[in-house]
Amino acid sequence: MIETGEFDFENRLVAPQVIKEDDGDFDYSLRPKTLSEYIGQDKVKENLSVYIEAAKKRGEALDHVLLYGPPGLGKTTLSNIIAHEMGVNIRVTSGPAIEKTGDLAALLTSLQAGDVLFIDEIHRLSHAIEEVLYPALEDFAIDFMIGNGPAARSIRIDLQRFTLIGATTRSGQLSAPLRDRFGIIQRLELYSTDDLAEIITRSAVILGVAIDSEAAYEMASRSRGTPRIANRFLKRVRDYAEVMGDGRITKDIAKIALDRMEVDNLGLDSLDKRMLTMIIKGYGGGPVGLDTLASAIGEEAVTLEDVCEPFLMQLGFLARTPRGRCATDLAYNHLGIPRGDDGGQTSLL
Ligand code: ADE
Repeated sequence: MIETGEFDFENRLVAPQVIKEDDGDFDYSLRPKTLSEYIGQDKVKENLSVYIEAAKKRGEALDHVLLYGPPGLGKTTLSNIIAHEMGVNIRVTSGPAIEKTGDLAALLTSLQAGDVLFIDEIHRLSHAIEEVLYPALEDFAIDFMIGNGPAARSIRIDLQRFTLIGATTRSGQLSAPLRDRFGIIQRLELYSTDDLAEIITRSAVILGVAIDSEAAYEMASRSRGTPRIANRFLKRVRDYAEVMGDGRITKDIAKIALDRMEVDNLGLDSLDKRMLTMIIKGYGGGPVGLDTLASAIGEEAVTLEDVCEPFLMQLGFLARTPRGRCATDLAYNHLGIPRGDDGGQTSLL
């Protein structure tokens, strides 16, 4: 029997996005404040440290920076670090929050020399807002139209030289003219298990929780390459350690806690498994169209596409073909389903 039904996405423990139970203060306390405290993303760190040092030596604002990559990898954290390392203020906003050109003008005119303006989800800026942004990025000025008809004229307001840091999970959705205005473009990658274990250990030290290195590794290997998920696990496993043991996080406690949370040894949860199992048992391993698959398990196609597929593809468990989704041999092996025991393509016809 393959379960169907609405999945509780807002509480999905392995979601890379911020979920309901994430606690802003908890997250904030764990965030590294300097590049040297920041674990992983070595190439990005090396590049940024050179650009930052050079800009500081010249006494100039840092070039505009675009950070892109999957959610939960620390784009906001890195932006705060950049501002900190440059010794400037940071203003934080997001694409959907800037509704009117006046909102953006107010933000831009409030910036002091060298300040960072961080725009999260920058791919969601409207076209009209982008138009205001172009001269701001290039000439550090904004143009305003005043009046109507033949009497209309444009006035230019000069801005301080600032640094825009844009963050996006979808660099492909950024318009070319906007992308071209970033001098520094850096892609964040999913973290290695070693890096995540180091992040978990660092977070445990900050929280004053004792943790065995094997336990940190166990949790890291289930964290889907994502520090936000790793720290969320730490918070939960700490509870188990306090209730079931003496407060120390051991490998056994970590295993028990994560198993109870239904996160398997690779980080798959029940929704990932339902999706793969349906492809295998319901559709002979695929190909099956996304919409068909979604209705078969009673979920929305976009949610499967955004929340399950990136990680399943990264693991090599799922292939997207022009004819639909297919489960790979790796997925069969992981779920312990032999090829030939998959119901066959014809069983549902
Ligand atoms: N907490 C979350 N992300 C981190 C990182 N990359 N380094 C250190 N601590 C973190």
